Amino acid sequence: MSWRATVLTLFPEMFPGPLGQSLAGRALERGIWSLAARDIRAQAADRHRTVDDTPFGGGAGMVMRPDIVDAALAECADDRPAVFLTPRGRKLTQATVRRLAEGPGVVLLCGRYEGVDQRVIEARGLEEISIGDYVLSGGEPAAMVLLDACVRLLPGVMGAAESADEESFSAGLLEYPHYTRPAEWQGRRVPDVLLSGNHAAIAAWRRAEAERITRERRPDLWAGHGPELRQSDVRGG
Ligand code: ADE
Repeated sequence: MSWRATVLTLFPEMFPGPLGQSLAGRALERGIWSLAARDIRAQAADRHRTVDDTPFGGGAGMVMRPDIVDAALAECADDRPAVFLTPRGRKLTQATVRRLAEGPGVVLLCGRYEGVDQRVIEARGLEEISIGDYVLSGGEPAAMVLLDACVRLLPGVMGAAESADEESFSAGLLEYPHYTRPAEWQGRRVPDVLLSGNHAAIAAWRRAEAERITRERRPDLWAGHGPELRQSDVRGG
């Protein structure tokens, strides 16, 4: 049984979009996962096909109606977790990606970011997920990000090279820098140690670089990377 993704959206024509290309696209063609984009507006009963209304209590923007969203969710409800993409959600992490990839699939609700009626979020037990602290014009690109991250973890999707990247990220460090030929380019030389053939020295250099870059760019990740795991020491760094 393949991993199943259903996206509920007002813009179903956005899918598969980039997910039809490259690694995810090939996995889709090979049947490792499936993708159905469903138009939320199909649930609207009135002549104007209304899916939203003005907020109780006043204020700007529109709110998606609970009955419409509930009907869209009811049509595809099964054993899969249902996720609402919103900047108000918990931030997406590799741990969450791994958990979702290990399950039967996902149902992703892309609402207008101004709001979906809170009652349907609660009634359907939607997991609210954000892909970062910035506001997109809709949840669709966030759904694509989540799906891309999950699909590459499905069995048979990644080759050995990509799997190794995932392992180093899981260790809680950013990646060390990469170099290929030519050994000198525009007066810039590849670090000597990488040309030395000394595998222990290369491993130590890469580890030190991964730690330095993580410390400089992501103090939050570095703080979660226990001192017992560190090769280098913060002193002098
Ligand atoms: N919708 C709008 N902005 C978003 C974000 N940052 N993450 C998830 N969904 C969103």
